[in-house]
Order: sequence, then structure tokens, then C-alpha cells
Amino acid sequence: MNIAIDGPAGAGKSTIAKMVARELGFIYVDTGAMYRAIAVYLTEHGVSPENEKIVADSISDITVEIRYENDIQMLYLNGENVTGKLRTEEVGNMASKASALPCVREKLLSLQRNLAETNDVVMDGRDIGTNILPNAKLKIYLTASIAVRAKRRYDELVGKGEIGADLAKIEKDIALRDKQDMERKIAPLRMARDAVLVDSSLMGIDEVAETIIRLAKERR
Ligand code: DC
Repeated sequence: MNIAIDGPAGAGKSTIAKMVARELGFIYVDTGAMYRAIAVYLTEHGVSPENEKIVADSISDITVEIRYENDIQMLYLNGENVTGKLRTEEVGNMASKASALPCVREKLLSLQRNLAETNDVVMDGRDIGTNILPNAKLKIYLTASIAVRAKRRYDELVGKGEIGADLAKIEKDIALRDKQDMERKIAPLRMARDAVLVDSSLMGIDEVAETIIRLAKERR
């Protein structure tokens, strides 16, 4: 059984998807991390995402692999564990730009589909329900208002002790990321026709997870 969870940046997809996967005994697949691994490669090699031909040449021989260590997804880029490098703003922005390129999406398509073919997965991303797993048993479109997503991110940074976190800037960055992910030509972020819309603006994490788990159990 496959569950697809799509939605914009900062909607809480990974937190929720992990909780759902744990409860159901499924594997959690974070596809954003795969795009981020490619972004790490491009950043470290000084490759601009503006020129598709150069990007295509530079990534043609790289390997992106996913391995599970103590049930945690690890991303390997050319055999090196790059998981610790994935979650910066710089890498996220590069991933958003690079993911608009067909050569980048093509590179990750079979990796994602193979994982879903051979396992019960909860897979999160932007185009899982619309493109990668069109036959997923359950599709969720998880969203929240920009203001709520920005405030959650701000609280997270403040919680980590980051001084100088700027709520207005975070809000602007999220709006820009939404625009890039929703307006690209190939596999843009949008809600699949048969997806269930879950707006978490006014819901707690547990409530969102319980809603999805209940839907999954009904369809099992
Ligand atoms: O979910 P995330 O922030 O880790 O994703 C980083 C970027 O990767 C996101 O801005 C768009 C891209 N992405 C995508 O195009 N398709 C996916 N299935 C997952 C992520």
C-alpha cells in the first residue's frame, strides 16, 4: 500500500509522514531529500541551475541512493552520506530551482517508483500523488497558510537558539518557494483530483496524523 503526501514547504509533511509511517509500519520516503542531495552536488561543484545542459552533463554520472540506518532515511551521494548537509536554506533554495529541470526529475523518478513498488511507503513531496504514484491508495494534500507556516519555522529557529530569526523574511522566502514549486512547467505542485485536502493551519500535529492514519486504515 502506498500513501502520497504532497504540499508546500513548511506544511509539516515530513513530521506527519514519519508519524503515519511509524504507526502503520510503513517506510517513510522523503523525496525532497533526494532533490536536496542533487542540490548539494550542484552547490559543491559551483553548477548554476540556470543552464539545463550544464546541469544535465554534470549530474549524468552521479549516484543518489537511499539507505535506512536504524529506520532513518540516509541519503548517499556518490557513496558519501550527505544527510547532514541537506537541511540548510541554501540547499533548499537550490533544490527548488534544480527540481524544475526535467533532467533532475528524470534522474530521481525510477528511484522513487522502485521504492514504492517494493515496499509499503508513505512518500512525501510535491508531485507524488499527481505524477510519481498516480495509483496510490491514499493521497493527501497537506497545506497551511503562509503566515502559519512561517510562524512555525520561526519558532523552530528560535527554539534552536538562532538569534536574529526574521519572521517577515521567512514569510517572503516561503512565498517565493511556493511560487517556484507551483508555477514550474514540469510536475508542478498541485493537489491531485483524488487527494484529500488537509489544512493544518488550525490543527495540532497529533490531530493531523490521526486524521491521516484513520483514512489509511479505512482504505487498507
Ligand atoms: O520538501 P523539501 O523542502 O525538502 O523539498 C525541497 C525542494 O525539492 C522543493 O522546494 C521542491 C523539490 N521537490 C520536488 O520538486 N518534488 C518533490 N517530490 C519533492 C521536492
